Amino acid sequence: MNRSLRLAVLGAGGRGADAYGRWVRAHPDRARVVGVADPVPARLDALAGTTAARYPDWRDLVADLAHLRPDAVLIALPDALHVPAAAAVADAGLPMLLEKPAAPTLTGLTDLAGVVRRTGARVAVGHVLRFAPFWRAVRAVVAAGSLGDLATIEVRENIGFWHFAHSFVRGNWRNAAESSPMVLAKTCHDLDLIRWLAGAAPRTVSSTGSLLHFRAENAPAGAPGRCTDGCPAATSCPFYAPRYYVDALRDVTGHPVTMLGSDLSPAGRLAALRRGPYGRCVYRCDNDVADHQQTLLEFGTGLTATLTASAFTAENTRHLTITGTRGQLHGHMDSGEIRVDLFSPAGRLPESLPAGVEVVASGVAGPLGHATCMLVARADSVAADHRGHAGGDDALMDAFCRAVVDGTVGTGELSFATALDSHLMAFAAEESRTGAGVVDFSAWTETTVGSA
Ligand SMILES: NC(=O)c1ccc[n+]([C@@H]2O[C@H](COP(=O)([O-])OP(=O)(O)OC[C@H]3O[C@@H](n4cnc5c(N)ncnc54)[C@H](O)[C@@H]3O)[C@@H](O)[C@H]2O)c1
Repeated sequence: MNRSLRLAVLGAGGRGADAYGRWVRAHPDRARVVGVADPVPARLDALAGTTAARYPDWRDLVADLAHLRPDAVLIALPDALHVPAAAAVADAGLPMLLEKPAAPTLTGLTDLAGVVRRTGARVAVGHVLRFAPFWRAVRAVVAAGSLGDLATIEVRENIGFWHFAHSFVRGNWRNAAESSPMVLAKTCHDLDLIRWLAGAAPRTVSSTGSLLHFRAENAPAGAPGRCTDGCPAATSCPFYAPRYYVDALRDVTGHPVTMLGSDLSPAGRLAALRRGPYGRCVYRCDNDVADHQQTLLEFGTGLTATLTASAFTAENTRHLTITGTRGQLHGHMDSGEIRVDLFSPAGRLPESLPAGVEVVASGVAGPLGHATCMLVARADSVAADHRGHAGGDDALMDAFCRAVVDGTVGTGELSFATALDSHLMAFAAEESRTGAGVVDFSAWTETTVGSA
């Protein structure tokens, strides 16, 4: 790789500036930002520095692409802008990294699938977890056959009660009509990982769940519309906003407190809670997305997979259990620990493990003394709340920039086709949850994107 790529960035928020921009700043030999679009001047300044061109809207940057001459475009805009922006970049013929969800609605996804088909657009979708050492190790164990034929996959997406309140009750993803269902916004990563591990799309999808708790009837007696208006439940409510944004996050100036505004002093934060969305009582918001949901997927091989997502968890991480005819795997994404039990005396781990993954212990267990191995996946990047994605953010940028140089964006794991099933699985799950029962996935897909 002998030159630094020219990147244009649409949206200089948490993803554009913090996740991907941070990688670019750390790798000036690999890439540099030549143009940034964002309506917030401070965000423009922070990412553009003194050299990149600035635009107040993504459309302005796209209109100037001929002059800007980027090698690729990063689309890190709010969900609702993904489809028009991706279509415009497709028309310009440039490779792009499009944040997930590729589209927040089924109609938008169908439209985008049509655009990709017509233009041959080179679209990589931000499914960062596929690139994290933890998930690459899980996939390597499965692909090597160490577990035999897969019987079950259980993924638990522990959203964290504080994080759910921030994003899915008070924040951007609280209302399905304004954004998207939780099963897409939060768990399309998990569906993508299940699809990846299964090696095929599911035969059927069924899902159940509801908005159990964050409803007006569950408000404590006398609770006002805002935590800061003298809430009588301030000391007992787990969701009392000042405890999170002012006290617990006092030393944090990035995600998620940037959502409050630009004055992040204690007084500035309190003022933002008094007037902005993040100070609202969690029982008095305009939220409607499910706060717990369980999805069951059946595959043609007989494999079944379950995905459990819940707001009411003490951790904000994923747990995974896979059972197979020759072994079992347990993983915990935050710790990076993966335990593999090999039932057969001839059982083996893959000959080589992905970078950043090592075997740290081995032993025997059970009445037959079968072999066990403990692997640890170490993420290089900072694993603060929602940053880094266990090293996936950095690894995706590394892979994307390599693919831009090699001309392979739009193929393999960096393709729209690869990401499409996970989004369709999410929409099918939501249809199932809201009344459709068991969805025949391939027939349902044919009637949706099949005609795009
Ligand atoms: N891959 C992942 O795991 C992951 C994680 C979090 C968020 N996301 C997705 O990434 C996207 C961005 O999320 P975020 O957390 O960075 O949000 P954000 O709000 O921090 O950033 C979005 C930015 O877009 C800017 N913007 C809004 N309208 C614009 C316009 N017309 N033109 C140019 N810029 C405009 C906003 O000012 C903001 O700075 C979302 O689609 C989100 O769902 C993906």
